Amino acid sequence: MSANLASFLYLVSGILFILALRGLSHPTTSRQGNVYGMVGMAIAIGTTLLYATPSFGGFVLIVVGLAIGGGIGAVIAKRIAMTAMPQLVAAFHSLVGLAAVMVAAAALYAPESFGIGTLGAIHAQALVEMSLGVAIGAITFTGSVIAFLKLDGRMSGKPILLPMRHVVNAGLAIALVVLIVLLVTTQSTTIFWLIVAASLVLGVLIIIPIGGADMPVVVSMLNSYSGWAAAGIGFTLGNLALIITGALVGSSGAILSYIMCKGMNRSFISVILGGFGGETAAAADDDMDRTVKQGSADDAAYLMANAQKVIIVPGYGMAVAQAQHALRELADKLKEAGVEVKYAIHPVAGRMPGHMNVLLAEAQVPYDEVFELEDINSEFAQADVAYVIGANDVTNPAARDDKSSPIYGMPILDVDKARTCLFVKRSLGSGYAGIDNTLFYKDGTMMLLGDAKKMTEDIVKAMDH
Ligand code: TAP
Repeated sequence: MSANLASFLYLVSGILFILALRGLSHPTTSRQGNVYGMVGMAIAIGTTLLYATPSFGGFVLIVVGLAIGGGIGAVIAKRIAMTAMPQLVAAFHSLVGLAAVMVAAAALYAPESFGIGTLGAIHAQALVEMSLGVAIGAITFTGSVIAFLKLDGRMSGKPILLPMRHVVNAGLAIALVVLIVLLVTTQSTTIFWLIVAASLVLGVLIIIPIGGADMPVVVSMLNSYSGWAAAGIGFTLGNLALIITGALVGSSGAILSYIMCKGMNRSFISVILGGFGGETAAAADDDMDRTVKQGSADDAAYLMANAQKVIIVPGYGMAVAQAQHALRELADKLKEAGVEVKYAIHPVAGRMPGHMNVLLAEAQVPYDEVFELEDINSEFAQADVAYVIGANDVTNPAARDDKSSPIYGMPILDVDKARTCLFVKRSLGSGYAGIDNTLFYKDGTMMLLGDAKKMTEDIVKAMDH
């Protein structure tokens, strides 16, 4: 295959990746977006194979590698529970980081194979690209492993705050820059491995102080890092598709991190500096009347059937209980009875961006009934019932009213403005941020304690009576 044809095909795959990102930005087009992405990736892999024209043995090795890796990926993707998706993404990012380190090592030890010079006489530009790729790759690797361990509950989600951590991190970052300069000037393999070691340590140190509630931003940030690492390796390999894809992943990850920070009203810098989230329940407000009004499925059915407008607020608990289908059934029943039904989605409800939208789409909830926070928040004041199903933090008025709260400033869904707020959850326990929700004790709130799916099914049954 000629270089021109390869460049053209890489460009086509790059355009398909851009179309994929565009498609994935809305539920109605996301399947098509996925197809664009798959076709783009098939073209990129095929072109690389045909352009590089490996020997027969090399070709077989690549195909076997693709089959093993692709097979394992397919099995994991099929088996994984939706609620475990963030840790899966973190685990996959760690592999991208590791791959970047390995490719850089291969390029250093066998530069001829990469067309970047000879052993000990590698082009300076390639050395700079390689050292940046390896540093970002190694940081991504250990950072993602820590994020995986935290998200999967194998390590405490609490921030681990080492003394003088900012000084240590800054020292390591400076040491990395010095090592990169030394590598470019000396081409020493020892310096290369020192860069790897310093970056691996830095990856751990950057992520351990970050608390549970900030983890989604971290995963998205690591996603961005892995993209830049891939782009760096793309330069080393002279592979246009890898440069385009890496840049797309890098920039879209950075934009997503920004959007999430905005949704949680956190500054990106304070997320990176760490220390938020994973707190234990905040001390109860002593002045507060701590009595709770508890209701049954029958009470909820009565209230909702007699309402004119019901706004449903799904959260992480709906995902855990897989209550989306029962919820759709409940909404259908209400609509049949002439009740107006809408869904309100908080940007960080659940455990990943778009988590609730995906689940509602799975239950075939019509898209025109689903609204983002800023589009629906003013409507709670006119709603008779807010049906909060497995959501907690995203409704917590402390974010609005209590300056001392760790989630202060995060926009929330104003469910307390509805005439009655029905809260479906199993206990009075806290949500992800680990803080108490005073809404449970308010006059207009009725707690429906139980599993989200079971409770919703019981309400549907009660409506039939
Ligand atoms: P949370 O505040 O985590 O609350 C979820 C609630 O669901 C819990 O309080 C839990 O209470 C309840 N629950 C769990 N299993 C249940 C079940 N089977 N049936 C009924 N209820 C159940 O969720 P949220 O309101 O969606 O807020 C999301 C939080 O996660 C935010 O703090 C956000 O910052 C963070 N976060 C977001 C993301 C993204 S990007 N979406 C990713 C990671 C973290 P019980 O135990 O009493 O049942």
